[in-house]
Amino acid sequence: MNTPSWLKSAIFYEIYPQSFCDSNGDGIGDLNGITQKLEYVRDLGCNAIWINPCFESPFMDAGYDISDYYKIAPRYGTNEDARRLFARAHELGIKVLLDLVPGHSSDRHAWFLKSREADRNEYSNRYIWTRDAFDYPEGFRVQSGLSDRNGNYIVNFFSSQPALNYGFERCDYDWQLPVTHPDCVATVEEIKRIMRFWLDLGCDGFRVDMAYSLVKNDPDRTGTKRLWQGVRAMLDEEYPEAVILSEWGCAEEAIDAGFHTDFYLHFNACGYNALFQTDSYDYVDRAQPTECFFRKAGKGNVRVFLDEFMPKFRYIAGRGHMSLPTGNHDMIRYSHHRSQDEMKLVAAFVLLMPTIPFLYYGDEIGMRYLDGLVSKEGGYFRTGSRTPMQWTDGKHFGFSDTDGELYLPQDEKGAPDVQTQLADENSLLNTVKRFTALRAANSELQAGDNFEPVYAEDHAYPFAFRRGKFLIAVNPAKKSAEAPLAEGNYRKVISVNGDAGIGAGKLHIDGVTLTVFEEV
Ligand code: NOJ
Repeated sequence: MNTPSWLKSAIFYEIYPQSFCDSNGDGIGDLNGITQKLEYVRDLGCNAIWINPCFESPFMDAGYDISDYYKIAPRYGTNEDARRLFARAHELGIKVLLDLVPGHSSDRHAWFLKSREADRNEYSNRYIWTRDAFDYPEGFRVQSGLSDRNGNYIVNFFSSQPALNYGFERCDYDWQLPVTHPDCVATVEEIKRIMRFWLDLGCDGFRVDMAYSLVKNDPDRTGTKRLWQGVRAMLDEEYPEAVILSEWGCAEEAIDAGFHTDFYLHFNACGYNALFQTDSYDYVDRAQPTECFFRKAGKGNVRVFLDEFMPKFRYIAGRGHMSLPTGNHDMIRYSHHRSQDEMKLVAAFVLLMPTIPFLYYGDEIGMRYLDGLVSKEGGYFRTGSRTPMQWTDGKHFGFSDTDGELYLPQDEKGAPDVQTQLADENSLLNTVKRFTALRAANSELQAGDNFEPVYAEDHAYPFAFRRGKFLIAVNPAKKSAEAPLAEGNYRKVISVNGDAGIGAGKLHIDGVTLTVFEEV
């Protein structure tokens, strides 16, 4: 299998198109706005972006409900704008991933409107319909009573997102088609066609939404993995430099399925939360970690993370990667209840791990999570993490010059902005830049299999790990900390907030400090 050459050194920036930059003064971000800001992305040290769905949609789920997979949403611009964006990004050495949403479309997609018709037609099986309008099959969420067709349809996420039909690995009822059924094969072929369309226009791959969800009645994801292996074979042959990144939350399955990298996220597991998310709503099967590791309180347990992460890391070694984000459009921002000093540690850590780093737009300046906003486009609690970017301390923080309404309200005056932080050597933004530069300059700090915990004890601080000749120590706790360390000659490369030293078989590190050493 082919591995795209650019992935190892990739540093990603996630762009929520609604909220990044409004180039035409209508109060909402757009593709030309993104293009205008690509130099900023490059200067930040990111060489790849992921843009959340930007296709035609009624926006019941912020664009994860697509009504035309082949068309940029008019509010963001045109396909021609997308082509220009890709071309400009490439001039600047930036790769672009689009968001592929294969699990479901909008219920206003033309395929679905045909599918819900009572008369049989080409799209009758494009979605999953029960035989009868009074069927409520166990284990599925269905919508009923909304069409002339005598049946209920299965939804994948919100009610407005009917599941596309890739078939069933195990068929229990006659309305459940096998994955080999020509109509299910046609759905897969359509997804490949969509991928080719955007790759031909110049994008570099896809982040794949709910990638695990395609084949139904598939508890071990055997059918879903088989499906993606077919897609990967197509890419290897036709687009060997294209990357697919899954939202799967189980790297073992996703890499087996052929994804180049899988997100390490806040669901399906608790390692991510044990590191970063004290206010998490989703600790799964392990006793609630007392607090997350990256807090001044110093009550976290890095082992909860490592015990989960290391087996995954070893399993996929040599075959694929995990991607570690500072946050995303589905999580409460990492700035929540964190000082700038604490955020610096999280960002630096994400940029030093063997995973592929993702910075969520605005996290590089510590944009705040705006609590209590009215839900926008199916955002609900997520809305507070999706507010317009803060570029300057001027009107609308430089996001838009509209005199009308913004896509979402912004933070109060005095909130962090790019311009102010660029001028401050010690800002979060300039700290992030130092670490993107460090990663870019050292292949041992890029995505890879070289990661060895050196000090990681139950309920203890600091955490120290080795990556090649580099030794990284991080102590998010307010109190200084010590750890035993085998003798060696170390040179300090960079330190954030406080200081650290190595001597007499010990590492000593100040509170809220991250230090990178190099063995000489
Ligand atoms: C995951 C996306 O990240 C989220 O924003 C969306 O609501 C669901 N998938 C459904 O597509």
